[in-house]
Amino acid sequence: MPSVKFKQFRQSRHSNVPTNARPATLRLITAVIMAGVLVSIGAGAWWYWKTGISGPAARGIATPDTPLDDLLGRNHRAQLQQALAQRRYGGRTWNWEDYVQWGRELVHEGRVKQPPVGPTPSVPIADTYRCLHCHNLVREDVVLTHQDPVARESLLEHNPALAGKKTGVHLTTGTTFWGLVNRERFYNGYYARYHRLKVREGNSFRPMNPESLADAIQVCCSYCSAGRFPEDWELDSILAYLWTLELRLRDLGLPADQQRQLLEQLNSGNAELQAAARKELRKHYLVASAAHAVEPPLRSEDEHGGLIPGPMAVKDIYPPSVAELEQWFAARRTNPESPSAQANKPGPQNSTPRTNLTVFGDPKRGEWLYQSACALCHGNEVHPKAGRSLAASSSAFHRYVWKGTQRDGLYMPFFTRERLSPQQASDIRAYLRSLPPPKSE
Ligand code: HEC
Ligand code: HEC
Repeated sequence: MPSVKFKQFRQSRHSNVPTNARPATLRLITAVIMAGVLVSIGAGAWWYWKTGISGPAARGIATPDTPLDDLLGRNHRAQLQQALAQRRYGGRTWNWEDYVQWGRELVHEGRVKQPPVGPTPSVPIADTYRCLHCHNLVREDVVLTHQDPVARESLLEHNPALAGKKTGVHLTTGTTFWGLVNRERFYNGYYARYHRLKVREGNSFRPMNPESLADAIQVCCSYCSAGRFPEDWELDSILAYLWTLELRLRDLGLPADQQRQLLEQLNSGNAELQAAARKELRKHYLVASAAHAVEPPLRSEDEHGGLIPGPMAVKDIYPPSVAELEQWFAARRTNPESPSAQANKPGPQNSTPRTNLTVFGDPKRGEWLYQSACALCHGNEVHPKAGRSLAASSSAFHRYVWKGTQRDGLYMPFFTRERLSPQQASDIRAYLRSLPPPKSE
């Protein structure tokens, strides 16, 4: 069985124990019932032993620490655990913890020191890129339903206010892996064009299924990382590792009253109340991450223009589409929408006057924003160029930031509005312009 599709495991867990009590003596009926009860207890114990999961929501012991996957009654993690327990790699089965460890190594280093099959160490997924060049592993949005890189600044480890505290949050081009397993649709909005890309299934290829996390991982290993398709054991391992980053009820940060009420409903044993609570839960985190592309500025001015306050300031004039996008984001900041509505919306409508958006860059903010958004890849083994050389020309700067590069092999991914704001980009440009020119300039 080549690739993991959650759908294939849907609802396979509730093994109904047949209790066909035929008309017979009372003793026989009692015996059959007793046997049924014993089998049920046995199956439950097996289930618990096999997966370490007791189905808390179903059994009325949901707590703030219960994973959403259990609260929603989906049990996708348990199904994957069950499936992996059957898989054989290198002629034997492995523990869940082995998969998690390999997955961690793949995400962090791109290869595994002691893989279950193949060469030791394993062949890197990509030559240069690792998942962490483009994805965080921790919470990156203060309000989970509002993906906003400006609000994200309060969590950036380069933020001077945090004085060197390790938060693990960067302004990456891809969304965080934290809670990724809880999403239901992948490559949304602007990225929907990737749904045409092919993924591997056994020895053949087919278009990706936008609802399959395994397919999204395949796409990112091969296309985004400029690497290759993962082997089956690699895909299984990355999925297992991602399940260690799943959301729990308390992560939603609900008001205490609402959390208590939801827990009561989930623990009530009443199917209707549970369904209502589950519906409510899904409104409080991202079931699909959004992506809006930003059009680069119509023109930019630097300090030479003399029009700009301060010696190092820069000015970027964005087209009306960006002004509307900014208004739309500002409106959502005060009134967050349901995440599924967000992901499926085309974005701002052309209803407002078509005015340009003028942004002045602040070099002081730009310094730590640069450390967060660019330094992961610039000035190191990914790309040697760094500092002022990146802002030598304002049009090249904006082209790379908002459009990236499209070519085979090592390329630069672009930033969507969910990952960088026009103000942040101008601040970075102002900082880079404020540095002494490189010798070659
Ligand atoms: C060079 C940058 C880059 C690298 C390296 C990279 N990704 Fe991504 N990834 C992206 C971008 C950009 C997206 C676009 C969607 C988003 O997350 O906003 C994305 C999306 C994804 C998605 C779909 C997320 C969603 O909610 O739609 C998954 C899953 C994913 N990546 C997994 C991985 C894994 C696993 C690795 C490492 C093997 C990896 N990525 C490496 C840039 C990258
Ligand atoms: C995920 C890695 C990654 C991130 C993050 C990244 N870049 Fe890049 N960047 C690259 C790569 C790789 C290239 C070379 C692309 C190519 O040649 O196609 C590049 C090229 C560039 C260039 C052209 C350099 C030249 O050759 O003159 C500019 C300008 C640039 N990046 C700016 C930025 C800025 C500004 C940021 C942050 C807002 C940023 N990059 C973030 C990977 C990255």
